[in-house]
Amino acid sequence: MGTTRMLGRSELRVPRLGVGAMTWGDPLGLSRFTPAKMAYGGAEGAEEEARAFEASLAAGVTLFDTAAMYSHGASERRLGELAHGTAALIATKFPPRMRATAEDLPRALEASLARLGRPTVDLYQHHYPANRVDIGRLMELMADAVEAGKVRAVGVSNYSANQMRIAHAALAGRGVPLASNQVQYSLLRRQPETNGVLDTCRELEVTLIAYQPLASGALTGKYLAGARPRGLRRFMPLFRRSRRESVASVVALLREIGDGHGTGPTQVALRWLIENDSVLPIPGAKNGTQARANAQALAITLAPDEIEALTRATRAWRD
Ligand SMILES: NC(=O)c1ccc[n+]([C@@H]2O[C@H](COP(=O)([O-])OP(=O)(O)OC[C@H]3O[C@@H](n4cnc5c(N)ncnc54)[C@H](OP(=O)(O)O)[C@@H]3O)[C@@H](O)[C@H]2O)c1
Repeated sequence: MGTTRMLGRSELRVPRLGVGAMTWGDPLGLSRFTPAKMAYGGAEGAEEEARAFEASLAAGVTLFDTAAMYSHGASERRLGELAHGTAALIATKFPPRMRATAEDLPRALEASLARLGRPTVDLYQHHYPANRVDIGRLMELMADAVEAGKVRAVGVSNYSANQMRIAHAALAGRGVPLASNQVQYSLLRRQPETNGVLDTCRELEVTLIAYQPLASGALTGKYLAGARPRGLRRFMPLFRRSRRESVASVVALLREIGDGHGTGPTQVALRWLIENDSVLPIPGAKNGTQARANAQALAITLAPDEIEALTRATRAWRD
């Protein structure tokens, strides 16, 4: 298995692992209270963001995910600054605010390009389906942006199997492939296997970009000893005392398998996703050390029986 692949049937060559830059950037005023920062607390300062960026690039992890909505554009602005003059690929998302319609796309794209300081977005994704956004119309506008040379590949996020089919068909009418669907997927969140999204990705040759691939940090094992994570995420069911034992048994298995590869639970959890040809995880990193550690997932290979043991041990997390 190589370290790069095409994103879906698009012409975008991407690494098998990306980086989530949701917590990056230094927002002012009320933008400090947007969900990305509230859930996690920010990254560990501008210097650590730069270290995370450089460590990732050095390891061949050249795909960075952001969104217009993250800290009201501050994450895009920071990523644009860091990526200036490098070979980094940037994935961002529409819309910039909750109450948007499809017709807002052209203006929102210009604003994202200005914040990123680039003439082209490598992957432009619809962040989440919403009643006021008509998928067919939005995909027409996405295809216009591809034709205008402002977007290289089109993706969606948080789409159901059926919504993916609507987007895929609308884009196909314009000769544009649907490259990806970004959804929550990890050993502790396996719903894409039961709700039809993973099967539909395989069938339509769409890459499943896995967000929260470390289950917001739970799969690293560092929160099992009693420390509570920063930000509102500490109220997630995963971090409740009642779940500690079941999370601990998964982390113990990850550790045991990691020992055999000279690595730890974090890398094995990411590698379980990478071993699936349709999946590309984008773990968040708040500092250089985390980014370097996550990139090591590219350097190991799990044996079929190790993949199977993890798949079996987390069956309960499919529902
Ligand atoms: N499309 C969507 O709707 C959507 C939703 C959510 C996220 N996303 C995207 O997915 C990306 C990743 O998701 P996520 O950040 O929510 O969850 P995640 O990747 O599962 O967890 C990331 C967090 O885990 C900790 N961590 C990461 N690497 C570590 C390491 N090597 N060792 C120890 N701790 C480590 C860090 O937090 P601490 O150090 O504070 O523990 C980090 O912020 C985001 O950045 C964003 O781009 C998309």
